[in-house]
Amino acid sequence: MKHQQLLTKAKEILLNNFQEKGFTIPCKGLYPFQWNWDSGFIAIGFAHFDMEKAKKEIKTLIDSQWSNGFIPHIIFHNKSDTYFPGPNFHRSDLSKLSNTNVPTTGMTQPHVLGIALERMYEIAENKEAMIRFIKENIDAIYNFSLYFYNHRDPLDEGLAYIYHNWESGTDNSPIWDDIWDTMDSPSLEFKRKDTGHVDASQRPSKREYDHYLHIIEIAKKHNYDDAKIAEFSPFLVQDPLFNSVLISSNKALIRLYELIGGYEEKVEKLKSLTQKSIRNFNSKLFDEKLGAYCHYDLRKGKLLRYVSSSSFSPLHAEIPTKERAEKLIYTMMKKFGNEHQYLCASFDPTHERFNPKKYWRGPVWINLNWLLYHGLKKYDYTHIAERIKKESIEIIEKNGFYEYFDARKEISEKQAAGYGGNNFSWSAALLIDLLNE
Ligand code: SER
Repeated sequence: MKHQQLLTKAKEILLNNFQEKGFTIPCKGLYPFQWNWDSGFIAIGFAHFDMEKAKKEIKTLIDSQWSNGFIPHIIFHNKSDTYFPGPNFHRSDLSKLSNTNVPTTGMTQPHVLGIALERMYEIAENKEAMIRFIKENIDAIYNFSLYFYNHRDPLDEGLAYIYHNWESGTDNSPIWDDIWDTMDSPSLEFKRKDTGHVDASQRPSKREYDHYLHIIEIAKKHNYDDAKIAEFSPFLVQDPLFNSVLISSNKALIRLYELIGGYEEKVEKLKSLTQKSIRNFNSKLFDEKLGAYCHYDLRKGKLLRYVSSSSFSPLHAEIPTKERAEKLIYTMMKKFGNEHQYLCASFDPTHERFNPKKYWRGPVWINLNWLLYHGLKKYDYTHIAERIKKESIEIIEKNGFYEYFDARKEISEKQAAGYGGNNFSWSAALLIDLLNE
């Protein structure tokens, strides 16, 4: 497909997935509501051809904010029986801080809103109108950043914890296997919907879902109280992707506040919090032996020593020094970057837990590639950045706008190698951004 045709198709996907209430579903059937970080990426795509929809996307997401600044992971604006677990399972009403206008989940997702807002400003032709939009909405995004420092950082390190694998965005990464091994979740009875849309071999297992639901039950038992969750959740992790995105969003907010002027106090606050985050990120989450950033299990007090695409996301937030970035990129190319593989697999292809077809256990994801592309450029690794961009376009061209893709080039040559949902919004949105960049 020519790039022009790809762009036309990508726009069509976004427009088809856009809903009357002013948000965009990630894809039909499998994900029929508004998802937090999906919306951020989707807004970037819309910004290139329909800025009003991009703004609406951000606005509907922000409108779901809780009174403590928290912005949830799924917003159930509409009813749908194609997804499990829905609003009746999550029960956000259990929290007295929850949004009373719309049911949501009681967990969140990587905070890409600051990144998205800044990218929208860069893309906008009418800068004045965009500045007005920023002025109206930036404080809500700032409050979301602050939420993590005030309520998700019990050790005061500037490193937010996540209490559920769905908060990481990398839902069934093999990294979590170590945590599941320590859990004795009951075997629950429930009816999955995802495996009705997508081949079960590409989705998490029933046992994994037992754990996912069990953690939510514990959070519900404590009415989604952060302090109680920090005390009792069996899953409590400082995730390098989650914290990189938070830091990147903070930095974007600092630049935007400086641009609009008159917010010195907030700028100072963000600067000092972000500095603390970067300092502790570097001292706590880098594993010298692996040459990569890792996840830290706060419950067990140890690093989970695995390399995943999340390990490289600190490049986006300019967390490593030049020297450390060199080491990190060396690890990336050595493990993930040989010529038989598309960059960047979601999990270490040299590891026995790597699975090239299963959700976050190996396949390539366009949103991670987008973050890595920009991260590599910030450190002047232009050649590798260009390779990521070229390969992201190529896998979509070959396979279609899937949710995730096989990293093995030979498989892509022989057969369809796009997995999960099709006509997937963020694959379309970020392709638009890459092609227009
Ligand atoms: N992606 C999750 C799911 O598979 C939820 O965020 O349902």
